[in-house]
Amino acid sequence: MKLFNQNLPPRGTMMSYAGLLERLEILRSTLRWANSLDRPEIEKLLRQANAVRDEVMQLSHKERFIQALGSQPDRQPDRQPDRQPAEPLEPAPGERKQALLARSFVFEGTFGDNPRLLDALEIAEKAAPTDLPVLIDGESGTGKELMAKVVHANGSRADKPYISVNCGAIPESLIESELFGHKRGAFTGAATDRKGKFESAHKGTIFLDEIGELPLQGQVKLLRVLQSHEIQRVGSDETIAVDARIVAATNKNLRKLIEQGQFREDLFYRLSVIHVSLPPLRERKDEIPLLLAYYGDEAAEALKRRPVVLSPRLRDFLLTYAYPGNIRELRNLMYRLSCLAGEVADLAQLPEDIRPAAPAPAPVSTASIAVPVSTAMAAPAAPPPSLAEAKRQASDEAERACLERGLKDVGGTVAELARRWDMNRSHLQILLKKHGLHSKDFRQRDPNAH
Ligand SMILES: Nc1ncnc2c1ncn2[C@@H]1O[C@H](COP(=O)(O)OP(=O)(O)OP(=O)(O)O)[C@@H](O)[C@H]1O
Ligand SMILES: [Mg+2]
Repeated sequence: MKLFNQNLPPRGTMMSYAGLLERLEILRSTLRWANSLDRPEIEKLLRQANAVRDEVMQLSHKERFIQALGSQPDRQPDRQPDRQPAEPLEPAPGERKQALLARSFVFEGTFGDNPRLLDALEIAEKAAPTDLPVLIDGESGTGKELMAKVVHANGSRADKPYISVNCGAIPESLIESELFGHKRGAFTGAATDRKGKFESAHKGTIFLDEIGELPLQGQVKLLRVLQSHEIQRVGSDETIAVDARIVAATNKNLRKLIEQGQFREDLFYRLSVIHVSLPPLRERKDEIPLLLAYYGDEAAEALKRRPVVLSPRLRDFLLTYAYPGNIRELRNLMYRLSCLAGEVADLAQLPEDIRPAAPAPAPVSTASIAVPVSTAMAAPAAPPPSLAEAKRQASDEAERACLERGLKDVGGTVAELARRWDMNRSHLQILLKKHGLHSKDFRQRDPNAH
């Protein structure tokens, strides 16, 4: 029997939905026409089905990400109608984000359109193609590691190694050997020659996380490597040239550490040629609804469940909470809620230490059960006729709003929208038809036309 024998695309290459549907169709016809299947053939088909499923998951993740990127209306707080025309207008956050997308900027899963986050992304974009050292600071969970990956992914070293070292997690006695490697017999336990992180990062990027934790002795050694671009393995006289781009991160105030004599000033200036500061989430609360929706969906996918619905009072809490652990805390909360709650999550599923005091029992109102994470901005005015109907309505409304926004953004060009969303064009046409949307209604009119 002829088995489905298409070569899988190389890892990391994503196909379109149309390509995947075609492969599924071939799998289906293989099964339909099979007279008999023995075990190895079944296993082969299963492996192929799993590969297709993984790709669908990847694609839907990517699609959600792009939708989330484009799903907030432009905010233009700085635009004043009576501004002098000579003054250049600040582009709106939505425009800045679109411009990054248009320049094929790799976000690595970072999203949001808070102006301060966009500032950071634009600095990263400019710094990425250079070899200048980048220092990223921000509170825990604000996305420093993600930003380091953004710098790496947008530079010319993107296909070379990205090596991450947590300077706070290595015992002081092992730091030198961890960073620069060692020669066999250099110390007790050094049974073989071993290369260090710098050598592993040759031609690529080395991410020095929690750099503020690096002891002074390690700082001196690091400074020397930054100056000479050479390392010596512990116990060896031989110098080895290394070409690694340095990105460092810290949640400490390095200037304060310098004043306290705990961080070398010369190293600080070497590392911070480009300095990126990430704002805490409580200073970009406008992004919380997006992040709740995004991580609610992600958790649902990971836990193979429907996206959890937030009760209005839980949603209110999540929108105003201070998130000392920043985006990591928000993400973990959404995973926790998605794991512990049934269809609807309420305050009771919050960790005890952040739960508001003595919450009243959850109201069993239809308002609390009809609001999916992604659309639950406010309780619906009238109780929906049934849970299933309410869900369908909410999903339809969200779909329609997204299509309208998308069409508006591309001036009514369906092919362009399909390209942006990496979607099959005919599928998109079907959706537009379903909602009675006409692309021509979104075409920009020529102001001179009569
Ligand atoms: N702008 C963002 N959009 C989406 N997810 C984000 C964003 N920023 C951070 N995250 C997510 O938050 C989590 C924490 O991010 P990351 O590990 O980069 O933070 P960090 O600043 O390095 O934290 P720490 O100081 O504790 O090491 C990760 O899951 C990351 O994917
Ligand atoms: Mg980190």
